[in-house]
Amino acid sequence: RWTTASIVDEQVERVRAQVGDGRAICGLSGGVDSAVAAALVHRAIGDRLTCVFVDHGLLRAGERAQVERDYVSATGVRLVTVDARERFLAALAGVTDPEQKRKIIGREFIRVFEQAELDLQAEAGGDKYRYLVQGTLYPDVVESGGGTGAANIKSHHNVGGLPEDLDFELVEPLRALFKDEVRRVGTELGLPETIVQRQPFPGPGLGIRIIGEVTAERLEILRAADAIAREELTAAGLDRDIWQCPVVLLADVRSVGVQGDGRTYGHPVVLRPVSSEDAMTADWTRLPYETLERVSTRITNEVADVNRVVLDVTSKPPGTIEWE
Ligand code: XMP
Repeated sequence: RWTTASIVDEQVERVRAQVGDGRAICGLSGGVDSAVAAALVHRAIGDRLTCVFVDHGLLRAGERAQVERDYVSATGVRLVTVDARERFLAALAGVTDPEQKRKIIGREFIRVFEQAELDLQAEAGGDKYRYLVQGTLYPDVVESGGGTGAANIKSHHNVGGLPEDLDFELVEPLRALFKDEVRRVGTELGLPETIVQRQPFPGPGLGIRIIGEVTAERLEILRAADAIAREELTAAGLDRDIWQCPVVLLADVRSVGVQGDGRTYGHPVVLRPVSSEDAMTADWTRLPYETLERVSTRITNEVADVNRVVLDVTSKPPGTIEWE
């Protein structure tokens, strides 16, 4: 019988057999899959694994701390954070096309990651990191067997998913597992709930939730609105009912509002709560009115420049989950 503990033991053995006394590197995205894969490999080879976390500046509030503090203290992995916020902002300046954004974010991510690997190699006296840990799951393995229709709709750059022509041997300890098994393995390895139960978040992050150009100021506005929405959904106990709830900033749209005795001319944000099994199709979630009211009141009161909150009531299809 396959218990979670026996899955862990078997994968730890396999990783040891594959990597021997070599060195491995893993890009952490903050998501469940890379976090669990890295924790497994760390259990197998300890500090011969180094994790790299690229802060591309498109993260949500608190995500960097979650990796640097909670994940590291739970696992003891050796972590290097690369602060690449300026670099990504510069690369995204003036760009409004969604696919262009994805391409740029994916490209910059690979460059930053490669440089980090070179720095680590130099630090290790020129010793190359031969192994690359990836959180590939069974459904990813099956899906990449043939181009699905969905793949043509959005390029789905999985930041952290690096191209195959990089000069590494892949270590993929989750290749036989489904998502729920991965979460159980994560729990077995002692990872915090906040990571194990995390809802999906796209690799290009908030970059594809700002409709229009991505700027530091707009990111700050969206980050604040998103944090409030997440806080209230969690407080209402709705996290498990929702697949995810993107908050989208319509940065090029303004509408007239009134606050106190003054006229405002701010941006709308869109709440996009969805229910889904696998993200291929989705339904808009019927959130309780009280929760919607709290989110709306707090965002318009607390986030300067946002004076309107709207609700997306479109299923997928015809809408996709993300707006870009
Ligand atoms: P869509 O918008 O295509 O999203 O209905 C389906 C799921 O995929 C996520 N998503 C992405 N994930 N890179 C990712 O890693 C991307 O470029 C990307 N685009 C969308 C989205 O959050 C949803 O869970």
